[in-house]
Amino acid sequence: MSISSEKDLEALRKIGQIVACCLQFMQSKLEPGMTTAELDAIGGQFLAAHGARSAPKLTYNFPGHTCISVNEEAAHGIPGAKILQAGDLVNIDVSAELNGYFADTGGSAIIPPESKLHLQICATAKRALERAMLEARAGAKINRIGHAIETEAKAHGFTVIENIGSHGVGRALHEEPGFIAGYYDKNDKRTLRENQVITIEPFISSGAREVFETGDGWTLATHPGVFTAQYEHTLVITKGKPLIMTLPA
Ligand code: CO
Ligand code: CO
Repeated sequence: MSISSEKDLEALRKIGQIVACCLQFMQSKLEPGMTTAELDAIGGQFLAAHGARSAPKLTYNFPGHTCISVNEEAAHGIPGAKILQAGDLVNIDVSAELNGYFADTGGSAIIPPESKLHLQICATAKRALERAMLEARAGAKINRIGHAIETEAKAHGFTVIENIGSHGVGRALHEEPGFIAGYYDKNDKRTLRENQVITIEPFISSGAREVFETGDGWTLATHPGVFTAQYEHTLVITKGKPLIMTLPA
């Protein structure tokens, strides 16, 4: 969507804060021995308490309130009986709707003890998000986002997952301008517009360039021993720095 009024901005900020606080709350509850279904229930209760509806459930009938992807899983992990262990790399992605507005956020966290590799992937994915946000301004080519992400990944010896990425958001979970690659696509001629609402979500991996669907209809994974971290914000494009909608209140 494009923001066309103060009302749009306020409504988007409101659901943005809810998903951001939900993510933060879920991360604070992470502990070894809990199942991903238990973690998801905490998120589901948080969203319900704020009047928000899970976007993947609403949009795609996803079997969970949030997506929880562990270790070699990169995205769209179904919450279930999996028991979280010390040392796991856990990605939680929270997207939700309130009053017809959608916001999307996500983040990876490590259950201690934190391995050096996990720390490095997470730090690189965070920096990739920061760098890409600096490129995202009105009039800029959309492919500057992927260029920034790929540059940061390469500088640290990591790869970018190429078949999942950023996207338009706001009035739907996924909308115009469609898929935004996490790598530099020289053939992508699109430019960003002022007031446009997009996510930026780099997927940084310890070696994989693509994810595959594991057979449950949802979970996107690489291979055991390969790890992926993701951080995601919902942003409004301006002539300067983007406005970040998904910051905790
Ligand atoms: Co997301
Ligand atoms: Co997203």
